[in-house]
Amino acid sequence: MDYQALLEQIQHQLQPVIGQGRVASYIPELAKVSPHHFGMAVVELDGTVHAVGDARVPFSIQSISKLFTLLMAFQCEGDALWQRVGREPSGNPFNSLVQLEHESGIPRNPFINAGALVLADILCTRFAVPENAVVEFMRRLAGEKDIQYDRRVARSERDTAHRNAAMAYFMRSFGNLRNPVPQVLDAYCRHCAIEMNCVDLARAVLVLANRGVVPHSGERLLSASAAKRVSALMLTCGTYDAAGDFAFRVGLPAKSGVGGGILALVPGECGVCVWSPGLEPSGNSLAGSLALETFTTLTGRSIF
Ligand code: DON
Repeated sequence: MDYQALLEQIQHQLQPVIGQGRVASYIPELAKVSPHHFGMAVVELDGTVHAVGDARVPFSIQSISKLFTLLMAFQCEGDALWQRVGREPSGNPFNSLVQLEHESGIPRNPFINAGALVLADILCTRFAVPENAVVEFMRRLAGEKDIQYDRRVARSERDTAHRNAAMAYFMRSFGNLRNPVPQVLDAYCRHCAIEMNCVDLARAVLVLANRGVVPHSGERLLSASAAKRVSALMLTCGTYDAAGDFAFRVGLPAKSGVGGGILALVPGECGVCVWSPGLEPSGNSLAGSLALETFTTLTGRSIF
């Protein structure tokens, strides 16, 4: 498969839609990013990189961090994790409060904000400085030392995180957060503010495409069964309340973030990451979703 030619074709085909959609503005720092960026990368299991456009420009990974904090929290807790967070699609916006009351403070899945707050709480219990542990984990998976979180983006989100604070206090009232809420919110906002580029993210997700083993180091991070389960959660819950439509159009496990990134994988083959900050109403990158749809259409590489 000539992935390089394919990525160039996708970039060319998408020119008319790049810049469409709305950049997330509820986190003030993110509103400053131009919607005209577009980058896409494929990294194969043997480490071969194919990249176009802004694939090496760092962006705010936002909710893509939830995938990696899930892997870390699962390493800490094992299957006990599922007593504190569910595995069903929510069918509601990623920052919705309504289900939490009906479901006694147990979030539907780890990829909505409430679920990732539980993950952050687990990491606060386990690590003295959880954000450093997550950054270190990302560096290991991506094989790249320069990864950091952006303090300005973290502060900007923390100062305006009223809805996430409401969810966190609510879950604490049910006993599903164990650490002080301000500490959990600090960690959560810093995880979301990690900056990475498409190439490094596509490399980092190879641990799932490679059934639990980090290909460049040979380290087994999780069992093949756990890799299957996390990938299945990406398919059913990774793109917010648009997960059904996204699976229908793209047919790959994926996790998106309101910074405009979408990280996907083809099991046994490669990681794929696309970034374009203009979002459609559910919060997924508009050009990014179309790019991945085109990728699976042209290559036939989907899980179906
Ligand atoms: O908490 C927030 O709203 C953002 N830091 C992340 C939102 C996002 O990317 C979508 N979430 N699932």
